[in-house]
Amino acid sequence: MKIVVIGGTGLIGSKLVKKLREHGHEVVAAAPKTGVNSLTGEGLADALKDASVVVDVTNAPSWEDTAALKFFETSTRNLLAYGAAAGAGHHVALSVVGTERMLQSGYFRAKIAQENLIKASSTPYSIVRATQFFEFVKQIADYSTEGNQVRLPPVLFQPMAADDVASALARIATNSPVNGTVEIGGPEQSRLDELVRRCLAALQDPREVITDPNAGYYGIPVSDRTLVPDKDARLGETRFEDWLKQAVDQAPKALQQRA
Ligand SMILES: NC(=O)c1ccc[n+]([C@@H]2O[C@H](COP(=O)([O-])OP(=O)(O)OC[C@H]3O[C@@H](n4cnc5c(N)ncnc54)[C@H](OP(=O)(O)O)[C@@H]3O)[C@@H](O)[C@H]2O)c1
Repeated sequence: MKIVVIGGTGLIGSKLVKKLREHGHEVVAAAPKTGVNSLTGEGLADALKDASVVVDVTNAPSWEDTAALKFFETSTRNLLAYGAAAGAGHHVALSVVGTERMLQSGYFRAKIAQENLIKASSTPYSIVRATQFFEFVKQIADYSTEGNQVRLPPVLFQPMAADDVASALARIATNSPVNGTVEIGGPEQSRLDELVRRCLAALQDPREVITDPNAGYYGIPVSDRTLVPDKDARLGETRFEDWLKQAVDQAPKALQQRA
């Protein structure tokens, strides 16, 4: 089966490409770096030739409201049109758990626009909504930092390893389209402020995490269940503590740059 991973050089995309190849599939890792641009259409027709499945794990280079909307709308329209022309019978896209609860943010309005274009198209599809990646936790802290303090609300949080996101996507991409949305999340629920505190401590980051019920998530107002999936979500296996220990032991510098 030929599978084209759009955004195949990114955090999730590169892991997904590797897993699919290990399972014997013909995989194209498509991204601007490999000559494929979902915004301009450059290289799409060639990359998608004879493809059975298109997996969209791109991200907008800018998260500014207008730029993110333009990216996800244009890119999704192109992928659906070129995919249909190539005869691909399954469009898989990665979105975020709780997207419809965070529409004060332009980024999440862009993700809903992406989902709606897919649902309205005639191509069979699977939308996979994931919770926040472990690799993204330090970026959440950085966004919420003022001076030496990180202000975060004590809301429920159920992040997951990027590796488990890629495994779930590989399973879904190689099965029949669900023509609906699947939620995936981490194996454990904790509190956003607590988990970020544990992460910074493990990284020996001197910042203090202040529990503030009025603070937002990435500036977005959130309530207790905004960020967590429903009870029928498929759960990854990797626990945050184990991931953190391994990440700190193996590559502290890389973790600090990436996470
Ligand atoms: N962060 C989270 O916690 C989280 C949680 C749930 C879902 N998600 C979703 O997961 C998805 C992937 O995230 P990620 O962290 O893996 O992203 P990432 O590491 O930033 O990778 C983004 C990928 O998109 C590619 N790309 C950018 N512009 C493109 C274009 N015009 N044409 C084709 N490809 C393009 C990039 O290619 P280059 O390398 O060439 O730039 C790269 O391969 C996003 O849609 C996000 O909404 C994220």
